[in-house]
Amino acid sequence: MEKILVTSALTYANGPLHIGHVAGSYLNADIFVRYNKLLGNDVIYIGGTDDYGTPISIKAEEEGVEPRVIAERYNKSMKKDLDGLNIQLDNFSGTSRPRHIKVSQDFFTNLLEAGYINKKSLNQFYDEKHKRFLADRYIEGICPHCKSEGARGDQCDKCGKLIDAIDLIDPKSKISGEKPIIKETTHWYINLPKFENQLREWLETKKYWKDNVLNFIMSWLNEGLIERAITRDLDWGIPIPLENTKGKVLYVWFDAPIGYISSTMEWAERKGQPDLWKEYWLNSNTKLIHFLGKDNIPFHTIIWPAVLSKQKEPFILPYDVPANEFLNLEGQKMSTSRNWTVWVEDYLKYFDGELLRYVLAANAPETKDSDFTWKDFQNKINNDLNNVLGNLANRTFVFAKKYFDGKIRKPEKLSELSDKILNQSYKLTSYIGKSFNGYQVRKATKLVMDIARTGNKYFDETKPWKEIKTNKDKAEETLYVCTELLRLISISFSPIVPKAMKKLRKMMNLTDNFKWDDIKQVPENFQIGEVSPLFKKIEDAEIEKQLELLKAIQTNEVKIMQHKNEIEFEDFIKLELRIVKIVEAENIPKSNKLIKLRIKLGNEERTIVAGIKESYEPEELIGKNVAMLLNLKPRKLMGIESQGMILSAEDEGKYSVLIPERDVKEGSEIL
Ligand code: MF3
Ligand code: ZN
Repeated sequence: MEKILVTSALTYANGPLHIGHVAGSYLNADIFVRYNKLLGNDVIYIGGTDDYGTPISIKAEEEGVEPRVIAERYNKSMKKDLDGLNIQLDNFSGTSRPRHIKVSQDFFTNLLEAGYINKKSLNQFYDEKHKRFLADRYIEGICPHCKSEGARGDQCDKCGKLIDAIDLIDPKSKISGEKPIIKETTHWYINLPKFENQLREWLETKKYWKDNVLNFIMSWLNEGLIERAITRDLDWGIPIPLENTKGKVLYVWFDAPIGYISSTMEWAERKGQPDLWKEYWLNSNTKLIHFLGKDNIPFHTIIWPAVLSKQKEPFILPYDVPANEFLNLEGQKMSTSRNWTVWVEDYLKYFDGELLRYVLAANAPETKDSDFTWKDFQNKINNDLNNVLGNLANRTFVFAKKYFDGKIRKPEKLSELSDKILNQSYKLTSYIGKSFNGYQVRKATKLVMDIARTGNKYFDETKPWKEIKTNKDKAEETLYVCTELLRLISISFSPIVPKAMKKLRKMMNLTDNFKWDDIKQVPENFQIGEVSPLFKKIEDAEIEKQLELLKAIQTNEVKIMQHKNEIEFEDFIKLELRIVKIVEAENIPKSNKLIKLRIKLGNEERTIVAGIKESYEPEELIGKNVAMLLNLKPRKLMGIESQGMILSAEDEGKYSVLIPERDVKEGSEIL
């Protein structure tokens, strides 16, 4: 039995999960884990959200909330989306949780004490208007390496190289849009050149890694390693554990991979065995396998092993780093800012998660970028899953029920053809296993379909519908062989479409509790149970709808709602919402937004300042019964204390106060 620790790259918690994340690292890792569980290996699957980094701070600023709110929102929503796709992580944590903060600080301290971190003063870009240093995604310019535009302060998307922000040509602040000034600051650097020999030796032992990964690393190493800053001047991040360093936090890429460890610790704790994580991370027999997208390669193969190797405890280093290339959408590069993607949450409103698993597996960007198109999605579901696999199951089972009451015996002697078909298929299952083991899901998918295709061809050639009239045993032989093929598929296809294979097994009255090795347990007979279609076809109209949605989102015809975090009912009832009557209204002279209102409910009157001047004349408001939040802490606006808030709906900058649909008494509660 092997011990395997599988991880998926921690996703930035700055937006919901999309199909690029799924194809990049979640699905392939899940398939690998499921296969290894079937082999009986001791495998755990660890992941979570990457809660720091400038995209999250930027989003928080846009919404006017704390970054933590954003991180928690998307951590929750991603977990839900992963569940919807049946991607089963053993633990899904987040890097803003207290345990992670402590572990990351210890990692920094250990590295510092071991003599691998240097403190340096340097010049950095600084946004004078917003009074802050600009690093990573807060700054953009021309890439100093490949000279392409739109390179960020941490990495260039075009050439994939890491960038020191100060080297950007023609830099612009992403917050103010202005040209930044240069200002001195202090940062802590990891001394990568000091690791060079060690890394080279270690990488010598990794000849079995994927070519795309090795090529990437080698070109990196051959350019020579330089010291890299692992701290930033930001307020959202992990404070560095040193005296008098206020405002200095760890660079997100320093702490993020440590999240794999802190998430494993969280898992162990949840299991009630807090030390269990050590049996993986501190055990030289564990295979540590990081699934990720290609832009994450340098961080996992150079910096991360360097950091891991200088800790007080003997952490294992990555055994393999199967990186995927990118998934495009309808022939174009995916872009979340342009909304050119398919959000999992939206997908799940229309289709079953299993279908996406199949299509993304069949089309995995393993060795080169691949393209997701809705038309191809439809074709794969209709042609492969329905016409090939679904058809084989359906015709075999329906026939078995009709003529044999579902009971199919293994023939005493198999014909040469039957023998050949079965042997070929057993062999294919071992290739399928090898493909899973080598992270080749595309190939595994194709081989499963080959078994099903062979089954259909064999069914056609042996013509059981004819044989049944003259030679019933012959017809039964065909059914036996086809059912046996379906049994093989129900095992070997289960890492890809687990739910559908469960259903298939149920139709054959086979248990859910099976192992890969059961492939060899050839049954003497089958008893087919209740038969129903395994898959459903996708109509043209369903696909057109998706294409329209994609287009509508692009052209802003349909707005994507960004929802806020869920709250408890207890939180909701803390709000005192009532209908009140507006008795006076007047403009506030020096303000172009504010109106002063006097409202009445029962024997009580209050003053309210409302930002609706651009939408109403004061006279229009007098006498109206409107909705109001009463227990908002009083606030001074333009020198006037506002004792609550009038509720109104905003539509492209125009406000409309909320008026009850029927006449209700002032003071009526809103629930
Ligand atoms: N959040 C990063 C990204 O989406 C990946 C972090 S992987 C980790 O590109 F190892 F650092 F966690
Ligand atoms: Zn570049």
